[in-house]
Amino acid sequence: MRMYDIIKRKRDGFELTEEEIQFVVNGYVSGAIPDYQMAALLMAIFFKGMNQRETFDLTMSMARSGEMIDLSPIEGIKVDKHSTGGVGDKTTFVVLPLVTGFDVKSAKMSGRGLGHTGGTIDKIESVPGMRTELSQDEFFEIVRKVGFAIISQTGNLVPADKKIYALRDTTATVDNISLIASSIVSKKLAAGADAIIFDVKVGSGAFLKSVDEAKQLAKLMIEILRKSGKLARAVLSDMSQPLGKMVGNSLEVIEAIETLKGKGPSDLTKLCVHISRKLLDLVGIVVSEEEIYKEISSGKALERFARFLEAQGGNPKVIEDYSLLPASEKIVEVKASRSGYVSAIDTEAVGVASVVLGAGRSKKEDSIDPRVGIEVLKKVGDSVHLNEPLVRMYVSEKSDVQLAIRLITHAYTISDEIAKPREIIIEVIE
Ligand code: URA
Repeated sequence: MRMYDIIKRKRDGFELTEEEIQFVVNGYVSGAIPDYQMAALLMAIFFKGMNQRETFDLTMSMARSGEMIDLSPIEGIKVDKHSTGGVGDKTTFVVLPLVTGFDVKSAKMSGRGLGHTGGTIDKIESVPGMRTELSQDEFFEIVRKVGFAIISQTGNLVPADKKIYALRDTTATVDNISLIASSIVSKKLAAGADAIIFDVKVGSGAFLKSVDEAKQLAKLMIEILRKSGKLARAVLSDMSQPLGKMVGNSLEVIEAIETLKGKGPSDLTKLCVHISRKLLDLVGIVVSEEEIYKEISSGKALERFARFLEAQGGNPKVIEDYSLLPASEKIVEVKASRSGYVSAIDTEAVGVASVVLGAGRSKKEDSIDPRVGIEVLKKVGDSVHLNEPLVRMYVSEKSDVQLAIRLITHAYTISDEIAKPREIIIEVIE
């Protein structure tokens, strides 16, 4: 078999066989297939697509490219949630402490920031002392003791995704349904949970901008997991504006803690409670939204979050004292160029602005700055006056402030008519 022939076949619109897909994944992970050939194949897939069978085979080959975690030594039902990527998305930090109050556990493997979207691991590492690389024994022990733990995709977990993902990120081949589905589902299979809920983001800040594409992705991911004997469901949620108000690593941890205290923004709170209820329902645990809200009002979910931080080496005092988290003192506001109502926000541009401030990586080898980010002061439907601040940017000496100002200014559409923001929950795909 030759990689050249496989690229040519896909370029010409043919279906790849299971053996060909296996050959590509094994060859790329081992280094036998160079980046340029893999990049050419990814672009051919981007243009010609893959059918469900090919996507399933790609997912299985990727999942099996490394170690697959067996969670059976942890007693009880193990659940997982996965977002397809957005701006200001800190739902994991709220959903896990909520659901684990109801007799389920979560051994979660999360990723770092990608393109204009932030990553759970980068965010939680802003807590001083926090460790996200744990041995399997320690990981399992924390899940047993606290109810959940979060580790990064290190070592030998889905090495195929790690390598292919990095290549997609730099070759404009991220936003393809089959490639996204295989990337996400391979990690979910390797992470070993019994039931998974997907938060499929739709809108200007998501990888997929239309509801139709997001639905296709949701259905495909659910189908692949069902075929593999897992329970799965998806919530389509709005990403046509940032979720909550905070974008940036340390800032998002603070907003998640505020939400666990019952003082979070309404869109974030509503989404987290909804995802939690749908995830519990998926494994046969029927609870009302009121019961889930009680986990917040009683302080139990916050306490669980504090125990999780402490168990993974983080300082749990950050919960009461945000000054223990890294923060930038230097603030720059971006002001409205006219009066009116915010009718749309190009959320991807807000994500890119946070990256150029230093909250994300422009190149693989960049390090992130946990202190910087954006506080969104005006959301869709809000009225604004000329020169009123739209966002507050927390910047550092390395931030490209001028570029961020330009991006934010262009990201906001201000009109004369009042705009109605889209509901945070768009649809549930069973
Ligand atoms: N998240 C992933 O893990 N992979 C993708 O391809 C897109 C979002």
